[in-house]
Amino acid sequence: MAINWLIQTYDQLPSTQDRLKEAVADNPDLAEGTVIHALHQESGYGRHGRIWQSDPDNLTFSILIKPNCAINRVGQIAILSGLSIAKAIDDVIAPEHSSTLKWPNDILIDNRKCCGILIDAAPIKDNKVPYFIIGIGINIASAPLETATFLQDHTKMTVDRDKFMKGVLFSFSTLYTQWQNNGFDDIRAQWLSKTYDVGCDIGVKIDTHHIQGRFDTIDMLGNLVITCGKNDEKRKITSGEVFLL
Ligand code: BTN
Repeated sequence: MAINWLIQTYDQLPSTQDRLKEAVADNPDLAEGTVIHALHQESGYGRHGRIWQSDPDNLTFSILIKPNCAINRVGQIAILSGLSIAKAIDDVIAPEHSSTLKWPNDILIDNRKCCGILIDAAPIKDNKVPYFIIGIGINIASAPLETATFLQDHTKMTVDRDKFMKGVLFSFSTLYTQWQNNGFDDIRAQWLSKTYDVGCDIGVKIDTHHIQGRFDTIDMLGNLVITCGKNDEKRKITSGEVFLL
């Protein structure tokens, strides 16, 4: 069934992620599909504790989903989130451009990041994760860093922020429903068609150490698989940060 989105927009918040975490902690029955959207975030943050800078013309919001799935499907949620938003971005920048995906769920255009996704899982209950809070930051009208980019730089059409956000939510709901009904196979195949070439050299930072290898695939749980060393040893990576070499 499609998600019924319930959007609350605020002029300003410290972080949509924190606001939604507090809301669901106060009310565990908070509906799936609750969206907290801020026109301006004062202290947004990303993965690995980094600051997420965003100008007011960009998009920052967090969504609540309640799949009550097994803990080992967390990686699939990360993959489907990235793919669904990449599809919404492609709808806006096609046909001249298309986005690419960097594991687990960064979205790039021309090798520059335009969207970051932060996934917080609820504490496990009876071996399941009752809910996830997915925080999404998308650069639409400007990029805060030189290494980043923004959608409006890749299309002549004006990107309407509110219309685009509805497109993202529609795309997410479509893939989430597909995942619940038909599983991960097709989502995995689509994700693989938008990422690195097999065999390309990548580095992965895991906590404080770095490893190097060649991209192989993502497995059925959304883990990264790389090939390392002269013996082509396969390594499965469940969390880390990828760098193209
Ligand atoms: C990353 O690339 O590290 C993820 C960035 C996630 C940023 C979003 S913006 C909306 C939500 N609120 C936050 O404080 N962070 C996420």
